[in-house]
Amino acid sequence: MSPITLTPLGFAAGAQISGVDLREPLSNARHQQIYDAWLQHIVLVFPGQDLTPEQQIAFSRRFGVLDRHESQASSTLHPEHREILVLSNKVVGGKKSGTHNSGRNWHTDLSYTTRPAKGAILHCKEKPPVGGDTMWANLYLALETLSPNIRRLIEDMEALHDVTLIRGIEQRDPSVITGMKQRNPPVIHPVVRTHPETGRKSLLVNQRIRRFIGMSDEESQSLLAMLNAHATSPEFVYRHRWSLGDVVMWDNRCSCHVALGDFDQTRPRVMFRCSLEGEVETGRIAQDAGGSDRQSMIQAVAAVS
Ligand SMILES: [Fe+2]
Repeated sequence: MSPITLTPLGFAAGAQISGVDLREPLSNARHQQIYDAWLQHIVLVFPGQDLTPEQQIAFSRRFGVLDRHESQASSTLHPEHREILVLSNKVVGGKKSGTHNSGRNWHTDLSYTTRPAKGAILHCKEKPPVGGDTMWANLYLALETLSPNIRRLIEDMEALHDVTLIRGIEQRDPSVITGMKQRNPPVIHPVVRTHPETGRKSLLVNQRIRRFIGMSDEESQSLLAMLNAHATSPEFVYRHRWSLGDVVMWDNRCSCHVALGDFDQTRPRVMFRCSLEGEVETGRIAQDAGGSDRQSMIQAVAAVS
């Protein structure tokens, strides 16, 4: 087996792997090397790859069960391979793609479902001359660097995740929005989750959280703003500047990410994404998605006193 080279790209996350041609089947030993590196570095970059959809699917399948993207609009999928979600800003038939502005706020993939993704594998097919970067935040570090008092506060808390908080969702085709809402009612997840393979705990917060369970909206928004700002501190972030042919895979169970719109939107940016299904359900559908404001809580206290 020819040696592969692993080069860390960031302190918090990110490593580049060279010396491997992903068009070739992975031996078990090579697969294990990559898998271990993935768990350790959260984001792996394989530069200079040129994969057919079938080859990307075959590589991705080695890391988990492939999502057939039932939570997504079928118009956003590869016409011949449901396993590939096409992230594109191209206009086709006079319409913008349903993914033209995907991922514009910090999120963990599919946290608006009861089973967030295990991870994903993106392949850069077209890119603008500059910009269109993606950033990932290490949510292990985010949790581990909170003060003991805040950790105690959030240890057993839950949060409501809402698909309608996808930034820019209102710019999508109305039929796409309606379908996304119907398929994805608000769900509740723990704020602290345990990685099923490493056993480490991480902070599951992002900008698609509506509020925390058992808190007023005002309390939720203050705490959420603080936790989001902390989790996405530059110290915990790896920022990837794409090159054509890059394959990037990330562990979604301990990270969040954002796809920046920092580029000329008239230039094409196209990524093929395979998504790995989450192994277990960590959330449940919210029976009551409503919140409460501080005034109603004060009135409730007044009524019983
Ligand atoms: Fe994403």
